[in-house]
Amino acid sequence: MAFQHTSPTSIRPTAVLFDAYGTLFDVYSVSLLAEQLFPGHGQAISVIWRDKQIEYTRLINTSTTSGGSVNAPFYKPFWDVTRDALRYACAKVQMTLDATAEERLMNQYRALSAFPENKSVLQNLKAAGIPTGILSNGDPGMLDVAIKSAGLDGLLDHVLSADSVRFFKTHPAVYALGPEALGRPANEILFVSSNGWDALGATWYGYQTLWLNRQQLPVETLGTMPPHIATSLTDVQTLF
Ligand code: LAC
Repeated sequence: MAFQHTSPTSIRPTAVLFDAYGTLFDVYSVSLLAEQLFPGHGQAISVIWRDKQIEYTRLINTSTTSGGSVNAPFYKPFWDVTRDALRYACAKVQMTLDATAEERLMNQYRALSAFPENKSVLQNLKAAGIPTGILSNGDPGMLDVAIKSAGLDGLLDHVLSADSVRFFKTHPAVYALGPEALGRPANEILFVSSNGWDALGATWYGYQTLWLNRQQLPVETLGTMPPHIATSLTDVQTLF
């Protein structure tokens, strides 16, 4: 088992926020349909799709026009970025994505498979009176459908979307939504993400972070460790 506390001085959190895509919802579950539509390319499409989606969010966060007076002038909602990234992924593997295949894959993304332990963990946190929420790049429309189709409706106190500030993680304006909504400092909030870069960004921002290393990846090597590292969402419960 791989539950590690890398920072023995961390205080007990009083609330928890979850990243959505990759953490609660399995972004690579789309590879099955992609494989049906494009035999031999399903896995590559799902990986390129995800990588490009995240790359585009960073490009949008950091780019501006020559005047530079408007923040993130190329911002578009995560749903649109996701579609753009899908088009890129199919082009990269030299597959023609017609309108029907695009809609099928986007619909699949709208209702991604959820990780099986999510529901019981959220139910237990709720029963223990721990405030919970999502803090995601996803826009409110896509988060709403994903939460409902995963049967998590009513189990989250807050659904915080980067769309409200028109930036993406790891921009501080996005991470600031957590303390603002929960009415407590970031270091009292456990932020749970399976994305190493997100866990790192949140740790830098000041959250007490749990990196859910679902894919058995090495830790990010930029010199900061998330205070907690686990392999299952159920480990979240042990921190309260
Ligand atoms: C999210 C992306 C990072 O849900 O997965 O914010």
